[in-house]
Amino acid sequence: MGIEIIGIGSYLPEKILTNTELEKMVDTTDEWITTRTGIKERRIAKDTEATSDLAIHAAKRAIKKANISALDLDAIIVATITPDMFFPSTACFVQKGLGAKNAAAFDIAAACSGFIYGLAIAKSFINSDTCKTVMVLGAEKLSSIVDWTDRNICVLLGDGAGAVILKKTNSTSDILSTYLGADGNAGDLLYIPGGGSRNPATHKTVDERLHYMKMEGNKLFKIAVRAMADSAKKAIELAGITRDDVKLIIPHQANIRIVEAVARQLGVPMDKVFLNIQKYGNTSSATTPIALEEAIYEGKVKKGDIVVLVAFGGGLTWGATAIRL
Ligand code: COA
Repeated sequence: MGIEIIGIGSYLPEKILTNTELEKMVDTTDEWITTRTGIKERRIAKDTEATSDLAIHAAKRAIKKANISALDLDAIIVATITPDMFFPSTACFVQKGLGAKNAAAFDIAAACSGFIYGLAIAKSFINSDTCKTVMVLGAEKLSSIVDWTDRNICVLLGDGAGAVILKKTNSTSDILSTYLGADGNAGDLLYIPGGGSRNPATHKTVDERLHYMKMEGNKLFKIAVRAMADSAKKAIELAGITRDDVKLIIPHQANIRIVEAVARQLGVPMDKVFLNIQKYGNTSSATTPIALEEAIYEGKVKKGDIVVLVAFGGGLTWGATAIRL
């Protein structure tokens, strides 16, 4: 018996924001964004849509693929840095939207690594018989925390959601390994200073734009490459396999140059690394489930193949997991 992804679904808002459109909003160019990041366009949710709305769309697709009822879910875990509200959790909104009244529901805050952290929690829940069927989502409306006057950040991010449903089955599928890490000392490289209990929202914090994401991209770049390469290596080692056993690496889509550098450090050619950053930019916790769904849909991986998901993000946090589909 192993843990199988019995259903997967994703959702990207319809509205596309291209680099050319961004040229009219901030002092940037399509050429700069493309060569420095690999991003050509990103999706932006409607003003009326919250993160849970994106998540519910993805969740419904995963439930349909799994051919189960929402009532079969024992837990819903949402990884997000853009919750609908401080509380209730976004997972509780998703539970309500799905009518999944038998499911426990909670959020986890591990930024872009959140989906991988969520998979680790789901695996433990299932292996300890706490739950049988668990949904893990990465869902973000990053457009709601982006300073649209800050060219250093606004060109990088987008909105989207991805969901998987995990269950123990009688197949060869399994989560073979998980490796997680964090370094709170470097937390100030990527954060939102205002609005929390440290700097509660006031007119002053809003005037100083402290409720928007701040980032030191250059420093993060180097740490991201090392942390993602090390995490993927550890996940491969812990799974007792070699990199040749891995059909596809599915990395967090933050910057094409980060992904290429990670591939070089792993000694893996780019045709074994999944990329969709050009279409969606960085959707934080949602990048890896969205990418996994697309890789399956495009036939790049199928049942029985081993994939390695690897991510890095604010916290700082990082992690990787080897999964036999
Ligand atoms: N358009 C045009 N110029 C821009 C720009 C934009 N959108 N954003 C920044 N620049 C400018 C900078 O102001 C700087 O100008 P200066 O040299 O006159 O000061 C110049 O481009 C180079 O900036 P630098 O930060 O050195 O560029 P970079 O090659 O490191 O690329 C990032 C910037 C943000 C794309 C890159 O560092 C990155 O992707 N880092 C990781 C970010 C990340 O992954 N964050 C999320 C983690 S999950």
